[in-house]
Amino acid sequence: MTARLLDGQKLSVQLQAEIRPAVAAFTARVGQPPGLAIVLVGNDPASEVYVRNKVRSGQDVGFRVDLERLPATVTLTEVLDTVARLNADDRYDGILVQSPLPAALGRGAEQRVFDAIAVGKDVDGFSPESVGLLVQNRAAIAAGTPSGVIELLEREGIPIAGRHAVVIGRSDIVGKPMALLLLHRHATVTICHSKSVDLPALCRQADILVAAVGRAGLVTPDFVKPGATVIDVGINRVTDRAEAERVLGTGHPRFKVFEEKGSVLVGDVHPSVAEVAGALTPVPGGVGPLTIAMLMRNTLAAAGARHPA
Ligand code: GUN
Repeated sequence: MTARLLDGQKLSVQLQAEIRPAVAAFTARVGQPPGLAIVLVGNDPASEVYVRNKVRSGQDVGFRVDLERLPATVTLTEVLDTVARLNADDRYDGILVQSPLPAALGRGAEQRVFDAIAVGKDVDGFSPESVGLLVQNRAAIAAGTPSGVIELLEREGIPIAGRHAVVIGRSDIVGKPMALLLLHRHATVTICHSKSVDLPALCRQADILVAAVGRAGLVTPDFVKPGATVIDVGINRVTDRAEAERVLGTGHPRFKVFEEKGSVLVGDVHPSVAEVAGALTPVPGGVGPLTIAMLMRNTLAAAGARHPA
């Protein structure tokens, strides 16, 4: 079997096209476009790329998007002051602080910053109130990556209700909200993590397997029930040749990318899984673009809630 590829890039273009007229209507009605403030602290190379794509997509759908850059040497108080200023600024309907924050800000810094974002502007869905509403299945906004996965499954006609979904990873950003969104759509959900015993056997139960651990090529064919849907949330930069060979094999087209650039982005799912799975998201071009499209949708929803018709 060769898995059907689930094209997140194509769906994200479609979602952007659906959002654009609603943004134009909002702007005409309210007299200002939905506003998104993005805070980037430091210069993490992956975050630079993600943030650039978020700015571009936001502008593309017609938002006002402002990027607030803070140096890696900033104090937590300064980050919190920035968030407080953006909370009070009526031009912004959404605030996104790119994760991860520099380690120098200390453990718990990220949580304190997310806690400080006004709940009505929390377009990431990371605040405790947003998470609480998600647990109770009454959230208007949920985290972008898991929301994008649900959108993809639903639009691809992949049934969720009654199916066994296995999520590898228990992060606040992906694993936990992913499990809740699947549960609310009536899946039977198992969450696996680094202490889970016999991970391949647990994963082989899955009709829908979501890998969100950040370990290149972890999910191999022995993790996958034939015909299962496999969603690869991982985006791992591989810079070691032996690792690139293990994950891709020298014959893979993306191995050429490694040879040219000295690094390559790979998912948590080994490409050989395509021979067992029924459907599979590619990396890149799978879940990544959907995360951004859902952020746009969340920002539009936040703007609509702040300026009801
Ligand atoms: N870092 C990786 N994914 C995300 C996301 O969805 N939102 C934010 N703020 N940071 C991230």
